[in-house]
Amino acid sequence: MTVHIGAAKDDIAPTVLMPGDPYRAKWAAETFLDTPRCINQVRGMLGFTGTWQGHPVTIQGSGMGMPSLSIYANELIRDYDAQTLIRIGSCGGMQDHVSIRDVILAMSTTTLSTPSSGIFKDLNFAPTPDFGLLMAAYQAAQAKGTKTHVGGIYSSDVFYDERPDLNEQMMRHGILGVEMEAAELYILAARYKRRALAVLTVSDHLITHEALPAEDRERSFGDMVEIALQAAFS
Ligand code: HPA
Repeated sequence: MTVHIGAAKDDIAPTVLMPGDPYRAKWAAETFLDTPRCINQVRGMLGFTGTWQGHPVTIQGSGMGMPSLSIYANELIRDYDAQTLIRIGSCGGMQDHVSIRDVILAMSTTTLSTPSSGIFKDLNFAPTPDFGLLMAAYQAAQAKGTKTHVGGIYSSDVFYDERPDLNEQMMRHGILGVEMEAAELYILAARYKRRALAVLTVSDHLITHEALPAEDRERSFGDMVEIALQAAFS
């Protein structure tokens, strides 16, 4: 048990998928894992462990934003020895060629700040995913026929942004989408020599202002979960 995770040490698998939303953790575990069981309910941040094609997998909610993700990822890595951490989340599309429901594999993350900014001070550290996971996820997405983009994303500190100029600069520089968690996950994985990747589904769009209808979300998010699971074990 840790401060924020009530699971026993061996209740957490070496491979952890991390959606922001705890109810999406429940849905993904019940949909894709065999014999899922709830291993965390502290603060309602649900976590489940089961197996996928015989491999043990934990799906643990991270909450929204990098400070929240940092708490769960730190405890998963340092106390539960998680080795592979894959964010499965949603993002806002930032380019014309990126559409609602497309999948984005985050090859780099740009930020204004992260919970680790205090360490790096005036350095601009470049948080990146594990290349093997990235390549495996891309191959899995290609095999499924999912429209997939690989490139830079923006990990923002705010959803309600009072600085629209930042989003404009991101779009101008080819950033594919905006979310709020991946950069800190990549930084923690680098610090502790673990594997990390963010697999994102475009749920809304900053240019077209479309948003994924609620009834479409499950099917679209399902592709992302399967891509993450295949990448983890390929
Ligand atoms: N902004 C920030 N985070 C997000 C968005 C967004 O538009 N969509 C999904 N996560």
